[in-house]
Amino acid sequence: MNFRIAPSILSADFARLGEEVRNVIAAGADWIHFDVMDNHYVPNLTFGPMVCQALKKHAVKPDGSPAPIDVHLMVQPVDALALDFAKAGADIITFHPDASTHVDRTLQLIRGAGCQAGLVFNPAMPIDVLEWTIDQVDVILLMSVNPGFGGQSFIEHTLRKAERVRRLIDQSGRDIRLEIDGGVKVDNIRRIADAGADTFVAGSAIFGKPDYRAVIDAMRAELEGAR
Ligand code: DX5
Ligand code: ZN
Repeated sequence: MNFRIAPSILSADFARLGEEVRNVIAAGADWIHFDVMDNHYVPNLTFGPMVCQALKKHAVKPDGSPAPIDVHLMVQPVDALALDFAKAGADIITFHPDASTHVDRTLQLIRGAGCQAGLVFNPAMPIDVLEWTIDQVDVILLMSVNPGFGGQSFIEHTLRKAERVRRLIDQSGRDIRLEIDGGVKVDNIRRIADAGADTFVAGSAIFGKPDYRAVIDAMRAELEGAR
């Protein structure tokens, strides 16, 4: 399995974001997870497309290839901002279907703008919308905390939800990433992978420690031999 680790810069030092992005990529990050909060859909306020655009030039791997920017929109309405993020250099844009009035249209907008598109499900949200959208998604993101803040504890029922989504993905035959976001740490990442996830967002677990590489290496060691 080709696992991806996506550090959330929500827990980075906002006064040094460019440097933080460069450092965490140098430490082995695969994607940069960019949490957009609007103080409306979620009770917190972070950053917008201008910050994404400014960080784009810092999101480069040691070999010179770009590290994908994974924009997680916790905003309502969705469509106009999604397009602004596509212009600002986002590679992947995920949104909460309950925040969009016309989910199919939003998926089409994002993909039409040249980005990968994904749906995000809060801990209490059913996943039945996937029945009619799975052909149009590149990523399915399961929230394992309630969105709005870093540093919360992992909600265990996400594992059962992940197993169910993994089956849907396998049945679809499509190449869809199953991403988990919230409370992911070195000591639970293996169980999350065993439930079917292949992409792991981690904010406080990485940026809360002085040595990012040590954390990312420890996560990869836990993933060794999984699926
Ligand atoms: C929460 C965000 C998460 C958050 C994860 O709304 O979507 O990406 O930053 O932070 P940790 O890893 O600290 O739970
Ligand atoms: Zn997130």
